[in-house]
Amino acid sequence: MRLIRLVANLGYGSQKDVRAMIRDGRVTLADGTPLKGEAQVAPEDVRIDGEPLDPGPGLVLMLNKPVGYTCSTSDPGRIVYELLPPRFLRRNPVVAPVGRLDRDTTGLLLMTDDGALLHRLTSPRHHVPKVYEVTLARPLDGSETELFASGALMLRSESTPLAPAVLEATGSHTARLTITEGRYHQVKRMFAATGNHVENLHRAGLGGLELGGLPEGTWRLLTPDEVAGLR
Ligand code: URA
Repeated sequence: MRLIRLVANLGYGSQKDVRAMIRDGRVTLADGTPLKGEAQVAPEDVRIDGEPLDPGPGLVLMLNKPVGYTCSTSDPGRIVYELLPPRFLRRNPVVAPVGRLDRDTTGLLLMTDDGALLHRLTSPRHHVPKVYEVTLARPLDGSETELFASGALMLRSESTPLAPAVLEATGSHTARLTITEGRYHQVKRMFAATGNHVENLHRAGLGGLELGGLPEGTWRLLTPDEVAGLR
């Protein structure tokens, strides 16, 4: 791909902006040699203002989402893209959240520009496990584990029952719940069906990945091995 389009697609600016960056000598090889717009170079050899280019298509990142951010590209409030470099919102193909977390849910959010991977991870057919830590308004009553595991729980206004889910109580008001679907407000509605109310919801894992020590509000790229594991 020509340099101008390559850099523009990574969100550094419009093709016109990138032409201006090239004219100003800001786009170079690692040794500082300025590049011309028609150059055919491997992305890993390009520097902008001396910095390596962002990863190209196939990017997969993990974000530790705080409360108050929406998984959306446009919202009157704060959006998860504010936690990433601003140019990530302008990339082509777009970097999109893999499923959504509610504004008041915290934890592991994957984002990628790989449409096939996104589809694989969000399709209920692939049973990708998602692990949530839940804090409840009222104590667990002991019936939830069997109900959630039954594969027969029908949420209000839905026509198919939920796939079996695994609940492990971790305290009187806390639990870890593993589900393999991603229906609208699924975890909150599951507990609402038992007469309870979710006060805090945190996603700790997805597809075998865990947040580890990733600080809240920060992100990191997945390693090639982690991406291979997801595929
Ligand atoms: N289930 C919910 O109810 N909310 C989330 O954010 C994720 C799963």
